[in-house]
Amino acid sequence: MKKTVLVTGGCGFIGVNFVRLLLEAREDWQVINLDKLTYAGNLQSLEGVADHPRHTFIRGDICDAALIDALFTEHEIDTVVHFAAESHVDRSITDPDAFVRTNVFGTFTLLEGARKYWLDQGRDSNCRFLHVSTDEVYGSLGKTGYFTETTRYDPRSPYSASKASSDHFVRAYFHTYGLPILITNCSNNYGPYQFPEKLIPLVLNNALQGKPLPVYGDGGNVRDWLYVRDHCEAIVRVLEHGQVGEAYNIGGHNEKKNIEVVELLCDMLDAKVGLPANGKPRKTLITFVKDRLGHDRRYAIDAGKIDRELDWRPKYTFEQGMEKTVDWYLENKKWSESVMDGSYQQYYAKMYDWSQD
Ligand code: NAD
Ligand code: TYD
Repeated sequence: MKKTVLVTGGCGFIGVNFVRLLLEAREDWQVINLDKLTYAGNLQSLEGVADHPRHTFIRGDICDAALIDALFTEHEIDTVVHFAAESHVDRSITDPDAFVRTNVFGTFTLLEGARKYWLDQGRDSNCRFLHVSTDEVYGSLGKTGYFTETTRYDPRSPYSASKASSDHFVRAYFHTYGLPILITNCSNNYGPYQFPEKLIPLVLNNALQGKPLPVYGDGGNVRDWLYVRDHCEAIVRVLEHGQVGEAYNIGGHNEKKNIEVVELLCDMLDAKVGLPANGKPRKTLITFVKDRLGHDRRYAIDAGKIDRELDWRPKYTFEQGMEKTVDWYLENKKWSESVMDGSYQQYYAKMYDWSQD
């Protein structure tokens, strides 16, 4: 079925993978990609698809109500897939303001735009507002147990508190106004185009440059890893088959301690590119550093509902996904280098003649 999809945050890590998937796999879907291009937004990640006839990029802020209203009307948006967010927990600890603004107020602004355009004008029957959220809203697990869709919300970082708040607003718009919403709560993603502040790309880049590999605390914190392509396919499944008003957990059944992930990356790089000049395995670069404030100990998703009800399960094992990820970063060193030296931001000006910015 034809759709015109407003993808917010389509120049970020997951958003760009999602835009690429739609352009590849959904021939009659138009993609309107709205992104503010914060430090985490990277137009270079759209190289090769930016000019695709079914892709329109708009630089703008999801908090800008006038812009949102205009986009709904001008492009006749019938579907929203909402990725745009401040997404890094460490930044939320040092600078929470932007998290409240974008994650809470920005989500509210989009909901208002959808309510006015879809409900006030009676267009809601095939419309969908899919809010992309995180398993971090459920808090931290002990040694056992899993997050299900009925686990009580217990966010513990400014990031997860802002995402939890946005989830509540999205649900409230379903219950109060009947807005056709869907929510997905996903575990940690990894794969191509991830900003090198997150554990996996940070370790990959540092290890290639012979820099220390910072592991917080004792390295025993557990995350449940999912290859980004699997997440994007799950979102399409929920969009097409999910029941309006419902939430779906998405996860990879890949619980790993941080130290295991870091050691695996070191071993993979040693095997693929050889030992560094000093002849020492990259594991020797591991440096235990001061723990993150309020560091959640363990996340683990029970993805049984989306498996049973929507027949979705991940296609990539952790080993396959990591292999593809490491190969991608090795083959795309220019992408990482331009992020690290800041030149990726000049790319905007060149591409869209924003020399005035
Ligand atoms: P990201 O930080 O890589 O990208 C965020 C994108 O949003 C950037 O392109 C940025 O420019 C844009 N953006 C930020 N503020 C904006 C604003 N006010 N208006 C318009 N655009 C704005 O994030 P990501 O890792 O791709 O995460 C995407 C979504 O998925 C987020 O909502 C996040 O909470 C959720 N999520 C992420 C993970 C993960 O492991 N990365 C896991 C589960 C859920
Ligand atoms: P991160 O990639 O920031 O994702 P999240 O905090 O959303 O789970 O971190 C993943 C895990 O790795 C988390 O337990 C914190 C830890 N970590 C480190 O040990 N060192 C680092 O340099 C970073 C960025 C994270």
